[in-house]
Amino acid sequence: MHKPFKKKKIIENILTNTLRIMELPFAESWKIKMVEPIRKSTRAEREAWIKEAHYNVFQLKADQVYIDLLTDSGTGSMSDRQWAGMMVGDESYAGAESFFNMKNMITAITGFKHILPTHQGRAAENVLFSCLVKEGDFVPGNSHFDTTKGHIESRKAFAIDCTIDEAKDTQLEVPFKGNVDPKKLEKVLTEHADKIPFVIVTITNNTAGGQPVSMQNLKEVREIANRFGKYVLFDAARFAENAYFIKLREKGYENKTIKEICKEMFTYADGMTMSAKKDAIVNMGGFMATNIEKWYEEAKIKGIIYEGYVTYGGMSGRDMNALAIGLDENTEFDNLDTRIKQVAYLAKKLDEYGIYYQRPAGGHAIFVDATKVLPFVKKEEFPAQTLTIELYLEAGIRGCEIGYLLADRDPITRENRFSGLDLLRLAIPRRVYTNNHMDVIAAALKNVYDRRETITRGVKIAWEAEIMRHFTVKLKRL
Ligand code: F0G
Repeated sequence: MHKPFKKKKIIENILTNTLRIMELPFAESWKIKMVEPIRKSTRAEREAWIKEAHYNVFQLKADQVYIDLLTDSGTGSMSDRQWAGMMVGDESYAGAESFFNMKNMITAITGFKHILPTHQGRAAENVLFSCLVKEGDFVPGNSHFDTTKGHIESRKAFAIDCTIDEAKDTQLEVPFKGNVDPKKLEKVLTEHADKIPFVIVTITNNTAGGQPVSMQNLKEVREIANRFGKYVLFDAARFAENAYFIKLREKGYENKTIKEICKEMFTYADGMTMSAKKDAIVNMGGFMATNIEKWYEEAKIKGIIYEGYVTYGGMSGRDMNALAIGLDENTEFDNLDTRIKQVAYLAKKLDEYGIYYQRPAGGHAIFVDATKVLPFVKKEEFPAQTLTIELYLEAGIRGCEIGYLLADRDPITRENRFSGLDLLRLAIPRRVYTNNHMDVIAAALKNVYDRRETITRGVKIAWEAEIMRHFTVKLKRL
């Protein structure tokens, strides 16, 4: 039975509704022009696939995955402008226009005038470290990324981690959890002064959870390095995300543009290596950049041997165009705001479900604290890898272990390294998934967390490589 409408009530409603101005919700700063279907699977299918993959998610086929959070590297969606740039790439062997497009953009953003393209980030490390790192050297930094560490250790040098201690406590909320501890850095510089080719600062600090480094800290590192007469290098894979956090969290930067902040950040470095697969939003590419002529001249020779001629270094012209445009777009606030708010959205969902992760949420990923989510799995049975497998079985979501497996063995004692954190990284590709996907990820994790008491056994290693074992390791489920 309809009640007759009351005219007075309707007028009241109209009045209150027009007076109450609703705050508009946040939404993406782009719209979708092209889509790629993804496939769900059954649990029985996933049980068979992961067994076949020796319980190592790197060994899965991509079409066995529903939501792929293995990495944010090379997995982003390019914009229409970037695709347009691909069509007009100059593929000349030497002196291609695309190279100059890329070089000019990098110089405009970083202030570095010597640019050497490479096929990806680790290749830039290889080229530059071939010139700078010698046997017996020490390279202090903030949680060197594994390829960075690999390129140091394979030259029989030592990567010394000087990250602040706060980064080890996943529940501690500090705004710049990726910072270098100045005291630790000074100690290394004092003890090994003549054996240090440079200090390396990774922005953002991937291994510590995509955590940013403050401008203040970059300045301090520069001052300390100057006192000891040392160079400073940035591993700048996610420098734009770092700049975003500085704008939001550091006093004095709230009114500066991202590009202005980037420019200042790079004044504290002598050079940079970059994996462009992250913040330049390309599927492949990288470079090194510096103002030190001597570095450039030496690196050029290594670049030609390992990568290709100096104006393409392993990249095609179309890719260099896309890189230039991607860098331009991703040093604009709106693009970064959309991305980092999506990571924060997932974090908020996990908060609702009581799931522990490295706090505050980082720039490119959520790092779930596996030892807290699966408290009944012993460290010797790799809790984060176990959680990675459980999440895949639950919903076909592929994360990545950043923990005891990735830590490899101590090169001298050959013991497993259990001293760091044991995390499951959920890396969010740029401009790829919607918040609906984030909801699925959070719900799947909750289901695993809710049955944690039934998950008491992990995995054991059946076969492993000597270094970087996590890519190829074969595991047995216990
Ligand atoms: N530096 C950092 C901080 C990185 O995160 C990576 C790659 C590299 C260097 C090497 O760059 O892959 O282009 O050779 N990180 C990817 C990841 C693989 O999943 O975090 P690359």
